[in-house]
Amino acid sequence: MEKMMRFQYKPVRRQEAIVGLFVLLFPVLLPCFFASFSHASPSTFLEWSVPKPRHLQLLSSALQRESSDGEPTDLWAPLADQGWRPCLGGSVNAPPALPQKSEGYLQVFLDGGLNQQRMGICDAVAVAKILNATLVIPYLEVNPVWQDSSSFMDIFDVDHFINVLKDDISIVKELPDDFSWSTREYYATAIRPTRIKRAPVHASANWYLENVLPVLQSNGIAAISPFSHRLSFNNLPSEIQKLRCKVNFKALVFVPHIRALGDALVHRLRYPPTESQPLITDDLTGTTDRNVKQMPQKFVVVHLRFDKDMAAHSACDFGGGKAEKLALAKYRQRIWGGRVLNSQFTDEELRSQGRCPLTPEEIGLLLAALGFDNSTRLYLASHKVYGGEARISTLRDQFPKMESKKSLASSEERVLIKGKASLLAAVDYYVGMHSDIFVSASPGNMHNALVGHRTFENLKTIRPNMPLLGQLFLNKNITWLEFRQAVVEGHQNRQGQLRLRKPKQSIYTYPAPDCMCQA
Ligand SMILES: *[C@@H]1O[C@H](CO)[C@@H](O)[C@H](O)[C@H]1NC(C)=O
Ligand SMILES: *[C@@H]1O[C@H](CO)[C@@H](O)[C@H](O)[C@H]1NC(C)=O
Ligand SMILES: *[C@@H]1O[C@H](CO)[C@@H](O)[C@H](O)[C@H]1NC(C)=O
Repeated sequence: MEKMMRFQYKPVRRQEAIVGLFVLLFPVLLPCFFASFSHASPSTFLEWSVPKPRHLQLLSSALQRESSDGEPTDLWAPLADQGWRPCLGGSVNAPPALPQKSEGYLQVFLDGGLNQQRMGICDAVAVAKILNATLVIPYLEVNPVWQDSSSFMDIFDVDHFINVLKDDISIVKELPDDFSWSTREYYATAIRPTRIKRAPVHASANWYLENVLPVLQSNGIAAISPFSHRLSFNNLPSEIQKLRCKVNFKALVFVPHIRALGDALVHRLRYPPTESQPLITDDLTGTTDRNVKQMPQKFVVVHLRFDKDMAAHSACDFGGGKAEKLALAKYRQRIWGGRVLNSQFTDEELRSQGRCPLTPEEIGLLLAALGFDNSTRLYLASHKVYGGEARISTLRDQFPKMESKKSLASSEERVLIKGKASLLAAVDYYVGMHSDIFVSASPGNMHNALVGHRTFENLKTIRPNMPLLGQLFLNKNITWLEFRQAVVEGHQNRQGQLRLRKPKQSIYTYPAPDCMCQA
């Protein structure tokens, strides 16, 4: 009989910091390196010899396991009350009133994807408050990776935004005629005295008072670009921290057509067609009478950012063979001139440090080990998956009830969001917020945004233990039982248990204790 080997998880001390740094810097660095990058054409040639599953043994065990494995009974249970409530002030202490007079207009230009821009919007409101400035609705730059030119108003309900914040700051949709010269093009063509170009990363409130207030006072306007990650998370007055949360969790809601589509998707996930009540319209009455007395179903949202950009930047080996390795190395060379921090490590080092995004296969194994099975309904929140259906199918084999925007909504229903990365991400964000469980394959901006928002609402969120999983996946001899035990143990405290923000951590990922109070 074989000796049972218990898997030993070796924690890597610095990994959280390293992963954190990567997450922070990746989107910041991206636009700089993209400046000269204009020939991004999706490669049409086949650059992988169909990625094969990398963990065949685990995969076949996962597929064959009996349901009598004993699904943990609390798998789907909502989080217990943890004693924390949202608390944004306002009722007890009267909110600091609007300033007597505005010091001028504050303009910000935000790069990054939807969730990075979201944080930038919250910070812009906070800086406007610090400076007693009037905020101009932030300008969203077109991101070179995602290529979406949607404006703030195309994504967020601008009237709701202004209304929710009306007692906190003044906001205008557009600059008055006197200042209409202050445009992106104006700042792109020469050095201008009204542009703040060198705001340090995580600048303090005092930095803004010393460096931006004078510009406002002498010109009536200040334009800050770049502005992403430019406001500290530490040493700010509590009402400013609460205001940042108020923007993030109350003022920013998506435009009605995004919410309507999101609601439709959530409804179709909760009330899937069944054999006795198929999804067909009654020809005689023109009504659908499915859902009648049907119990709402539970579902997991799996966020998978596994596009070529992410795959290349991570510098990990994803099992697509030589051709894939070569293609990713070429991409790194073209986009970042080969300067990618991770490429100095071996795949083994990267994995054991938890620096490789989980592949569709690996996130499937994580879910299976946690007790989800082929009856589990998944919603795949994802844009492009590098390797396409060949990679996704490994996840679909494990979870045949896997849905997405495309499978749940017709192309007519999706016409307003088609090809718009920010709007597609907004729909996924909305569905993610309405799911029973949310899990992400890599700790990026979307993951962090949802972790924070779901913490605020006390909703269950699985945070993959990346170094643990990396080490488990490196062990080619591991049995299913060992894998499962290690995964379950390593995720016991990573399913939505509230974590208090530590210094330097983001208030948007960890809203307690700044924006939540103990009941
Ligand atoms: C789910 O898995 C069980 C056990 O392996 C199997 O008997 C059943 O046919 C599977 N169901 C589907 C829908 O694949
Ligand atoms: C902003 O306005 C408030 C209230 O009018 C005032 O107390 C504060 O000093 C002002 N701050 C700045 C930077 O002007
Ligand atoms: C894994 O299997 C290989 C080949 O069968 C063997 O040489 C090695 O010692 C095993 N490793 C562990 C950790 O069991």
